[in-house]
Amino acid sequence: MSERPYVIDEMISAKAIAARIEELCNAIHEEFRDTDKLIVVGLLRGSFVFIADLVRELDLPVEVDFLEASSYGDSMESSREVRILKDLRGQIEGRDVLVVEDIVDTGHTLKHVTRLLKSRKPGRMRTIALLDKPSRRETDVAADWIGFSIPDEFVVGYGIDYAQRNRNLPYIGKVRFPDA
Ligand code: PRP
Repeated sequence: MSERPYVIDEMISAKAIAARIEELCNAIHEEFRDTDKLIVVGLLRGSFVFIADLVRELDLPVEVDFLEASSYGDSMESSREVRILKDLRGQIEGRDVLVVEDIVDTGHTLKHVTRLLKSRKPGRMRTIALLDKPSRRETDVAADWIGFSIPDEFVVGYGIDYAQRNRNLPYIGKVRFPDA
């Protein structure tokens, strides 16, 4: 893929993310304090950094599993098609589940995944997303907990990529094209 030059401006600092995760974990703890073992399901690949920080801040017994769904290719536009590329390893029937997303954009991914997981008859199921872009929504889905609600900016970092790059930035950045 030919690369158009771009720069990344910091939008949400690593410190702000860490502080917000602490708050979110307090709320998650309240919700699941009576659960014997919570299954935390990360949606690959974007959530891998968020889930790592989240589970280390959670003072609860957890099991971690992953599911990979894809709604984008390497483009910036979201398509309506959601494919399951990798399913969970474990069973969730009767178990309490927390689904972890990096970003809810059109909402197709979260809607598809929650519908699929509900069909497996879990106990309590809740959803959390680090970022939410409500102005892009094409479905009626909403995560139970949101880290930050953001405008329709092209964001990268903290697990989120642009053409598979920049996932390793410790902060959320905004991509800007100086030649635009
Ligand atoms: C991105 C992102 C979310 C989803 C949000 O995943 O990580 O999972 O799209 O979009 P939606 O709300 O419009 O469905 P992507 O398919 O790019 O895969 P990745 O996580 O591997 O980067």
